[in-house]
Amino acid sequence: MRLKGKTALITGAGRGIGLAFAEAYVAEGAVVALADIDLSRAQSAAAQVGGIAVQMDVGCQESIVSAVDETTRQLGQIDILINNAAIFSAAPINEITRDDFQRVFDINVAGTLFTLQAVAAHMKARGIKGRIINMASQAGRRGESLVAVYCASKAAVISLTQSAGLNLIAHGINVNAIAPGVVDGDHWDGVDAFFAKYESKAPGQKKREVGDAVPYGRMGTAKDLTGMAVFLASDEAEYVVAQTYNVDGGNWMS
Ligand SMILES: NC(=O)c1ccc[n+]([C@@H]2O[C@H](COP(=O)([O-])OP(=O)(O)OC[C@H]3O[C@@H](n4cnc5c(N)ncnc54)[C@H](O)[C@@H]3O)[C@@H](O)[C@H]2O)c1
Repeated sequence: MRLKGKTALITGAGRGIGLAFAEAYVAEGAVVALADIDLSRAQSAAAQVGGIAVQMDVGCQESIVSAVDETTRQLGQIDILINNAAIFSAAPINEITRDDFQRVFDINVAGTLFTLQAVAAHMKARGIKGRIINMASQAGRRGESLVAVYCASKAAVISLTQSAGLNLIAHGINVNAIAPGVVDGDHWDGVDAFFAKYESKAPGQKKREVGDAVPYGRMGTAKDLTGMAVFLASDEAEYVVAQTYNVDGGNWMS
């Protein structure tokens, strides 16, 4: 049990990768808070893994503050934060709207920064040598023709991980990130539907194509990412600072 006695707050944990992280952390002995904008989703996920459910919209500052307060009230403290909540967006450059840009940056970038800030303040005040893990993406490593805003938001997450990692290590708080490649699940069903529309593909075709293109030979699963998430939260990662790790079956090298 590599996380015994630790408490973790995981945002966007109602389904997909965040839910798999929660399950893996519980298996390693941690007590977890599963936060999601969709409370009923968080509640059924929490019941499934044996954690607590917290309502949280990372795009809203009041909600961040109240979710961090609620988690510390119920769990005592927060040792580990996974900034996992995010939304996807795609459009050709000429069709990007300012509203969509703002929505994606509010959730994916400001949500990551200000949740990190609130939890880091809690860790510093209590002298907790904490761990913060941000969810980046291979999309943050380079732009994609139809995915400008999401790619830019994930590049910002990689940059914030570097700055926050350098700033907070002086307080014993390690900040790192994971950059997944293509991970099967609800998120990618939405991506597939988008490409079906813009690239005139049959439903499911884009998913098959991206899976076939992964050097490992298939799309990732949420479970493929849990080893890295456990490692970065464990004592073994104490000297790992401000890094973003690709976990993508060899899809991207950087
Ligand atoms: N699936 C992939 O292929 C892939 C690849 C690279 C990176 N990622 C990243 O991994 C993370 C998880 O992805 P996923 O595939 O599990 O996504 P998902 O869409 O399946 O799950 C995201 C969860 O976040 C919640 N959420 C959305 N907006 C929120 C908000 N404002 N506040 C709180 N919760 C909110 C949703 O309700 C949902 O339960 C994201 O950061 C995503 O960008 C995913």
